[in-house]
Amino acid sequence: MTDELWIEETLAKLTLEEKVSLLSGANFWETVAIERLGVPAVKVSDGPNGARGGVTENGPTAAVFPSGIALGASWNPELLKEVGKALAEEARTKDSNVLLAPTVNMHRGPLNGRNFECYSEDPHLTTEMALAYIGGLQSQGIGATIKHFIGNESEYERMTMSSDIDIRTLREIYLPPFEAAVKAGIWALMCSYNRLNGTFTSEHKWLLHDLLKVEYGFDGLVMSDWTAVKSVAESMNAGLDLEMPGPALYRGKKLLEAIDRGEIDLDMVTDGARRVLRLVDRSGVRRVARVKEERSVDLPAHRALIRRAVAEGSVLLKNNGVLPLDGKKPLKLAVIGPNAAAARIMGGGSARVNAHYRVSPLQGLLARDNVEVLYEEGCTNHLLLPVVTSPMTTHFYNNEDFSGPAVFTRQYPGSDAKWFGSHEPGVNLDVFTARSSFEVTPERSGRYELGLANAGLARLYVDDVLTIDGWDGWAPTGATYYHFGGDERQVEIELEEGRTYHFHVDYRSTTGVMDGIQAFRVGLSLPPGEAGLRRAKRVAASADVAIVFVGRTPEWDSEGRDLPGIDLPRAQDELIARVAAANPQCIVVLQTGGPVAMPWKDDVAAILQSWYPGQELGHGVADVLFGDAEPGGRLPQTFPAVLSANPTVGNYPGENGHVAYREGVFIGYRHYDRSGGEGVLYPFGFGLSYTTFELGEPKASSTTIRPGDRFTVTTPVRNAGKRAGKAVVQVYVSPPPGHDRPLKELRGFSALTLSAGEAAEADVTLGMRSLAYFDAGRNAWRAPAGDYTILIGTSSVDLPHSIPVTLESDWEEVCAVAAP
Ligand code: BGC
Repeated sequence: MTDELWIEETLAKLTLEEKVSLLSGANFWETVAIERLGVPAVKVSDGPNGARGGVTENGPTAAVFPSGIALGASWNPELLKEVGKALAEEARTKDSNVLLAPTVNMHRGPLNGRNFECYSEDPHLTTEMALAYIGGLQSQGIGATIKHFIGNESEYERMTMSSDIDIRTLREIYLPPFEAAVKAGIWALMCSYNRLNGTFTSEHKWLLHDLLKVEYGFDGLVMSDWTAVKSVAESMNAGLDLEMPGPALYRGKKLLEAIDRGEIDLDMVTDGARRVLRLVDRSGVRRVARVKEERSVDLPAHRALIRRAVAEGSVLLKNNGVLPLDGKKPLKLAVIGPNAAAARIMGGGSARVNAHYRVSPLQGLLARDNVEVLYEEGCTNHLLLPVVTSPMTTHFYNNEDFSGPAVFTRQYPGSDAKWFGSHEPGVNLDVFTARSSFEVTPERSGRYELGLANAGLARLYVDDVLTIDGWDGWAPTGATYYHFGGDERQVEIELEEGRTYHFHVDYRSTTGVMDGIQAFRVGLSLPPGEAGLRRAKRVAASADVAIVFVGRTPEWDSEGRDLPGIDLPRAQDELIARVAAANPQCIVVLQTGGPVAMPWKDDVAAILQSWYPGQELGHGVADVLFGDAEPGGRLPQTFPAVLSANPTVGNYPGENGHVAYREGVFIGYRHYDRSGGEGVLYPFGFGLSYTTFELGEPKASSTTIRPGDRFTVTTPVRNAGKRAGKAVVQVYVSPPPGHDRPLKELRGFSALTLSAGEAAEADVTLGMRSLAYFDAGRNAWRAPAGDYTILIGTSSVDLPHSIPVTLESDWEEVCAVAAP
């Protein structure tokens, strides 16, 4: 229970200056404390797949859970509740009270760089998963922050882009998870960077105040995305409670001056302070003081949960019978591909966590008995050249010319350093220089690709010879480090096996650590080329089974940039084709944050999509491949055969600062249904099991429905196979004709794990909103009287059962707030 009395009494004692001070962060992650009144600071932490804590790079390690899309693919709210609870424990180890999660933007199209963080293309699935995650987290006293409110369905020009979305589409597709989370009592919400219909969401009064706080009744805190506040009066008067990060850029003194000028609605100031106090109270930090220390706690229970979650989210797209592999017989496995030895456990951007450890697929397979593993990378799939993993020592100087003794020295695990929102002891992070050195002793001679990417100025020297100049003429083109970095500059360099080369980078900051990113990375790669493909083919031919681990990397699937397309990067399609030609028992394991084109689909024996599933990747995938675990995932997003089949084509990524959501409510399967399924490679909701299920004739608790009724659809399910497995029963509603509505929409689902021969019933309860659409003219949710069909099955195109239900008369729920 919130202590409203304490909140109001404290509010009454606050001076105007103190109230204003509460409305922006104290630093990157904490709110302001008011010691005189016993108001402690609350600490927030990224992010959805782990609790990173206050150090953005190389901080205390943390458990890495599956990314949003992998969790969405589990269709298992119980799992998300467990993940939420575990993340609460993780947050405590990082001295944090609030997690900046979940991310519930929709998979509007396949190219959003941040789709990996989001659950699905469907609002119902997204909502159910988000509610479970939030429930798990908050049941343990750690707050959730649903984000990003709203219209952040792409990263392209995200700081300025206007997402132009009509009210019906907003209400039906993009708002539902936010609305439901508010009604379930979420503590915090984060606005987005972009504009909505021309107005920044951070200063959109209709959105933040009228809709969110008045109509939805949100009593929690609205915070900005990091540096998303662009105004003093507009954002304050719109109801943006907390500017993050701190210290204030548009609040503090500027807000006090605007108050003096009479530009500010003082009720908003008071209400904002009240909401900060409510978060303080809810977080419990008044009663149990924060420890002010971040720890690494690697719990066996979290390891086990993540391992199970890998399998729960893995979607088996094709299987000619090769899977599961027989673990009892000796097996010679060719393990091939750029994602075999590298553990692609998470996507890129603010969701990144310093993992306790990472199990690669190769390690996961090597850990099994009875297998002989032959490994070959075959080709690469990087966007930027891979960083060098030898230790790097960095000396910092508080001047512009590296003079005098270093004020601080730090070791990094590789040739990659970033100083975003972090503090290096004694270093003036507004103006500093850093000299970093590391050594490289190549295992093979050859012509290497060497790259330098930087945000700030940098020069790379090899054996004291300037080799890449990222200083003279450097510009932040936005190709790396969100919009703060420049292009990766590349050269070719001959290196000899066994010789030790000394690399060093001279770096100078150009922005302050709070208002920009200061970073550089050195990448080095010996391209495997044609020889790599040939080696892969040879290895594949000599094995019983060939498993190709392909996909993307956290640089492709990342915050801050969108994807250029859905083709697998570099020579991966060719690699799969060659391996499949050499060995008919070819299994493709995909790791991407969304769909890819699969020109080789008909030539391979099996396809498993495992996304970015967290630190237990290799163990979890091996569990699925050998049948110790069921591939429990179902696609949370339609996989198109070609990008051009997607409805956002032509309306993406936007032009002249606007991205028009012209496809309206027809995203994902809502679109493909309308176009007769054309262009679908694998449909929404699809995924194979290792067993078979029989769905019996479903029944509805009532087929004649009165306005306001709820009714339950019960479907008998039987595991007709020889092993345990997971069935995901999906319930869609098809409306009566007469309105421009999707042919059907997912309105319920139930995931059941059944042992061989076991039978159970899947219950899904539907209500008026399940039948309704949003009628913009009447500003109301409306279910017109008529005949609806409830469709039941195991994917959006496999719906063998139907129940007709009749709504006797019109139902309508008028919304409190009209469209702006
Ligand atoms: C992201 C947010 C994140 C915040 C803090 C922003 O760049 O959009 O999702 O929580 O940074 O790291």
